[in-house]
Amino acid sequence: MSTATGGAARGTGEWSAAESVVLSRAVHHAPSVHNIRPWSLTLHDRAAELRERPTVLVQHDPDGRDRRISCGTAVANLVLAIRGLGRTAEVVLSSSAGLVVATATSTGRAEPTEAERRRGAAVLERESYRKPFADAEVPEQVRDALLEAVVDGGATGRWITGADESLGVAQLLCYAARVFHDNPDYQRELHSWTTAAGGSLRWDALGERGLAAVGLTTSRTRLPDEAVLASRIAQEAVLVVGTRADQPLDQVRAGTAVQQAWLEATSRGLVASVSTQPLHLVEVRNGLAHGLGFAAAPQILVRFGYPAERR
Ligand SMILES: Cc1cc2nc3c(=O)[nH]c(=O)nc-3n(C[C@H](O)[C@H](O)[C@H](O)COP(=O)(O)O)c2cc1C
Repeated sequence: MSTATGGAARGTGEWSAAESVVLSRAVHHAPSVHNIRPWSLTLHDRAAELRERPTVLVQHDPDGRDRRISCGTAVANLVLAIRGLGRTAEVVLSSSAGLVVATATSTGRAEPTEAERRRGAAVLERESYRKPFADAEVPEQVRDALLEAVVDGGATGRWITGADESLGVAQLLCYAARVFHDNPDYQRELHSWTTAAGGSLRWDALGERGLAAVGLTTSRTRLPDEAVLASRIAQEAVLVVGTRADQPLDQVRAGTAVQQAWLEATSRGLVASVSTQPLHLVEVRNGLAHGLGFAAAPQILVRFGYPAERR
């Protein structure tokens, strides 16, 4: 849920009113944990400062991992919006009083690249798609482009491939789903963030099957059979995104990287949904890294595919 300052611009400096609207709107459309937009945006002197805003997801996000990943997605949108205005954007990440700050400064004019243009155009179109995908594989060259976008964004990725890997991941996700499903304090908080209860997360947008369902296990989620979940994972293009280290700024980078890939996917007619809920359990993060031989700290899971129905 956004507060009075969440997602709003304060002070426009040298940005024109129209430019300020463009930047604020792009940031507002970034995906965030429970859609709470845990940042504030200040525009001044051809700079844009995005600050992590402490929030109250005590049960879901006690360490603020998701807050910082969310700030990273907003940074990606902000930079693409600045580039879309035909300006340069240099980003510096820092921490202040335990909260991350991303400052994007524009020192001159420069046309956006073709990829920046396409991804920027996808900012308002992107949304979480937690339904089953169409029965069509994501081609190898598209997977390569998505992975490249992750790497460009400052993180690393690993596709889950084959029956054995899918089963290993399914076992970890089923374990996490049981933990969250059976935790009444966790479920009370999650419920309070859904729209029916006045929160910001749309209940009707949540997944009912496969990875998307256990990607955000609620008290209503039917816990799946491991083998069934494994076969669903094997049918989808599922990417684990990680970072070399697991410090606060790494989490911001993971968010930027995921958003770059999500926008790249959107620009190519794909849809996606992300999940961090299981990765809040350290044993799941470690299990993923070890099970996949992934030499990075897992931050977020993303499933990509083609929409089964018109959106
Ligand atoms: C850091 C982060 C963590 C998220 N975690 C989950 C998750 O665990 N499960 C899930 O279904 N969606 C998750 N989401 C998706 C958000 O719920 C979604 O982006 C938000 O509700 C806004 O909806 P939209 O993506 O359709 O714009 C996450 C998003 C971010 C940025």
